[in-house]
Amino acid sequence: MSRLLHVSASARGADSHSRRFGGQLVAALRRQRAFDVVERDLAADPLPYPGPAFLSASLMADRERNIADKAALAVSERLISELEEADAVVIDTPMHNFTVPAALKTWIDHVVRPNRTFMTTPEGKIGLLRDRPVYVVIACGGGFDAGAGGQEDHLTPYLLYILSTVGLRDVHALRLDRLRRGDEALARAGTLTEQWIGAILAGDDLETQH
Ligand SMILES: Cc1cc2nc3c(=O)[nH]c(=O)nc-3n(C[C@H](O)[C@H](O)[C@H](O)COP(=O)(O)O)c2cc1C
Repeated sequence: MSRLLHVSASARGADSHSRRFGGQLVAALRRQRAFDVVERDLAADPLPYPGPAFLSASLMADRERNIADKAALAVSERLISELEEADAVVIDTPMHNFTVPAALKTWIDHVVRPNRTFMTTPEGKIGLLRDRPVYVVIACGGGFDAGAGGQEDHLTPYLLYILSTVGLRDVHALRLDRLRRGDEALARAGTLTEQWIGAILAGDDLETQH
């Protein structure tokens, strides 16, 4: 059976917009194809920050690692395996302080590892993961209008860049903004999500939507 990895980063549980809209995509993908879904809930099951043992082990050659070094990489290995075994990935996340929330950044720090998921060459970093579709749903309270009241997006470009670093280039992001600006904005986000999911199921060429 095909496998879908669903990574959720919001700590707001049932109130979370990113979880609700991301969950709609997961449900729709499952209706289309009998995916076995692996849930990686970064709020319910918080990951440890990379500590000194992880940092030194991650920079060693595999042949130099002793049992303690390998133990320090165990969480990272499990998270990377979840990615490797997935045929598709859905990530739903809030925007926090213009970028990814700490929980998602910690997941990234575990899965982006030298000589494991990317290697450095004179031509730059080369991703070592097989590419597969990745769908990202981003919930933002504020808006991105030009001028006063607008804000910069340091989340979407960063996520596209870091995922491409490990070889994941077939990435499509839906950025839903103004979610703390009332019911009209929320309804608009619902409509945009439905349209986006429709395009995914139809196999349309998707632009990353901002
Ligand atoms: C600590 C924190 C920082 C936030 N920073 C931003 C931000 O920089 N830009 C923005 O548009 N919204 C920001 N928000 C609002 C959230 O993005 C918004 O509430 C969104 O719905 C969160 O997603 P969720 O509903 O899935 O938790 C922030 C919220 C919190 C709690």
